[in-house]
Amino acid sequence: MIKKEEAAERIKFLTEEIRRHNDNYYRNNNPEITDFQYDLLVNELETLERTFPDLKIAGSPTAEVGSDLTREFAEVQHSYPMLSLGNTYSEEEVRSFHDRISKSISLERGYVCELKYDGASISLTYRKGRLESAVTRGDGFVGDDVTANVKTIKSVPHTISASGIPSLFTIRGEIYMPRDGFMEMNRKRIEAGEMPFANPRNAAAGTLKLLNPETVAGRPLECFLYSLLGESLPHGEHYANLVAARQWGFRIPEEPRVCMTIDEVISFIRQWEHKRDNLPYDTDGAVIKVNSITEQKLLGSTSKSPRWAIAYKYKTERALTRLMSVSFQVGRTGAVTPVANLEPVPIAGTKVQRASLHNADQIRLLDLHLNDMVYVEKGGEIIPKIVGVDIISREENSARVQFITQCPECGTTLIRKDDEAAHYCPNRKGCPTQIKGRITHFVSRKAMNIEGIGEEIIELLYKAQLIQNPADLYALTTDKIIPLERLGEKSARNITENIRKSVNVPFPRIIYALGIRHTGENSARILAESFGSIENLSNATMEELTAVRDIGEKTAEAISEWFSDPDNIELTERLKEFGLKMRIDIPILSVDGLLSNRTIVISGQFKHHSRDEYKKMIEDNGGKIVTTVSASTSFILAGENMGPAKRDKAGKLGVEIMDEEEFLKLLKNG
Ligand code: IVH
Repeated sequence: MIKKEEAAERIKFLTEEIRRHNDNYYRNNNPEITDFQYDLLVNELETLERTFPDLKIAGSPTAEVGSDLTREFAEVQHSYPMLSLGNTYSEEEVRSFHDRISKSISLERGYVCELKYDGASISLTYRKGRLESAVTRGDGFVGDDVTANVKTIKSVPHTISASGIPSLFTIRGEIYMPRDGFMEMNRKRIEAGEMPFANPRNAAAGTLKLLNPETVAGRPLECFLYSLLGESLPHGEHYANLVAARQWGFRIPEEPRVCMTIDEVISFIRQWEHKRDNLPYDTDGAVIKVNSITEQKLLGSTSKSPRWAIAYKYKTERALTRLMSVSFQVGRTGAVTPVANLEPVPIAGTKVQRASLHNADQIRLLDLHLNDMVYVEKGGEIIPKIVGVDIISREENSARVQFITQCPECGTTLIRKDDEAAHYCPNRKGCPTQIKGRITHFVSRKAMNIEGIGEEIIELLYKAQLIQNPADLYALTTDKIIPLERLGEKSARNITENIRKSVNVPFPRIIYALGIRHTGENSARILAESFGSIENLSNATMEELTAVRDIGEKTAEAISEWFSDPDNIELTERLKEFGLKMRIDIPILSVDGLLSNRTIVISGQFKHHSRDEYKKMIEDNGGKIVTTVSASTSFILAGENMGPAKRDKAGKLGVEIMDEEEFLKLLKNG
């Protein structure tokens, strides 16, 4: 066992180190180490303090929550202390938590299992239905008053009115930033020459502490609420209170479940381990809470965390390894992806030697240098990614990783569009990798599904100058391909036979097979159904394209651009000549309905339904959606903040403006 003098030294070191990391995390929103590394340090300190209780330093971080107080906001006392949660990475410890508490309380009402949202905690107090204050956790007893900032978050109600609402209550939850909003915000920051945030949690916590609420309003913050506190709560069970708060209009997450046995708890934990990767926000664990509030009170809390709850944290499979080099791959659309070549390292049972670096911004974000020791994670995606660099071990004078300026395949100077993160090789027609990539996509399973042809065969055919684009496949004959190396007569015959059979592939899959940027299987299907034929699609204006449900500006632009290239028109003509079905099989029925022959413009932000839902309602009722207001517009469906230009034009042309409620009434009453 460790000697007492050594233990004293280690306790002092860990105490100071953890305090420093607490400040980095809670005050500066800029942690140096991962949560896992931090938890290991806390665990070690707890073990040493348990073994040598007299060596415990007063105010040890194992007994106090890390403080986020900044002195820049008014401080507000919490009516109920805001504690932290005990955590574990092992199912066994969750079971011992259950064994421990079931000795002293009744678990008749079971547990509530929730996810652990990764953001910054917030405490909202409502008096007589009005939001009185929004306060950060602070040191657990006193927090920073960030009411003005929180009021900019749309889903946080400023007032609530429903029957049965207590006249005074507190509701707590997590302020977070959804992943897509975070990426978009970082992209803009990089463009503006500002430092990007390292992850959505830091971005959320940092934003919450900004001094100007107007800046906060421009950031994509969200809030989930997960605990209701007060002297006259509607129910004696945590879960029932969550349901009530949802009815009052609070944004309560959908994931919480009541689990009656510890086995159910464990299966909730396991169920979300991978499923959580598909959520649009970050979570880092599950939280298990005793459902009965009476039993919660019986168990009480320590100075740092309640005894009636525990957090199970998901361990990310992560490893530290050396970055040997970075290579750049060109895809069929010309997009260039940087790939890290790593010293092979085992993660979650497989040997990892390559990791995606996404784009130039990501390289800059990590400030990667060659030979760096990097943290590699296997997250939800199949391709592992580099999540951090161990700066301490960086070699002196090591070279910073530079993004290439020329295409590695054809030497053309790369370009980067203003609104995109990726670099592109613009040599669409001459870059061999792009040409082969487009054909590979064309024959792929979800596209034309031509069996027997893969990358290798395409390489052979391309080298022999037999194919330059997908239409050339249909001009191939068995005789022409038999002489190719490694291809016998049988497989040559097989290939031409499979190509011939593919002429029966339905139109939506052909659109997908063309490989137009931003046009996935779903968009291809919707486009095929909306336009019916390749002629209609190729002649569609931007206005007609964006009027289609689920087709955004980017996809519409990509389609217009694709059809404006004469080579692509020739390609579709040739495919048609070879017998491919360039129109939809079933004739599209014209929808007769309430809105038939009506042309409608949608503008502004809506409260009751999303813009896509309104688009669908209009289309389902036979209406046509256009983007610009003209004399032939029947009416404008207007939400909040409708553009002033549109409003002016409507006024001048005498076009009716209908608000959401009126529109819904129209649909309902006919
Ligand atoms: S309950 C007394 N439920 O985790 C504990 N906390 O480590 C009250 N968190 O400060 C917290 N998701 O910021 C609870 N579903 C959830 C949570 C959650 C995230 C955060 C919260 C808290 C921290 C504790």
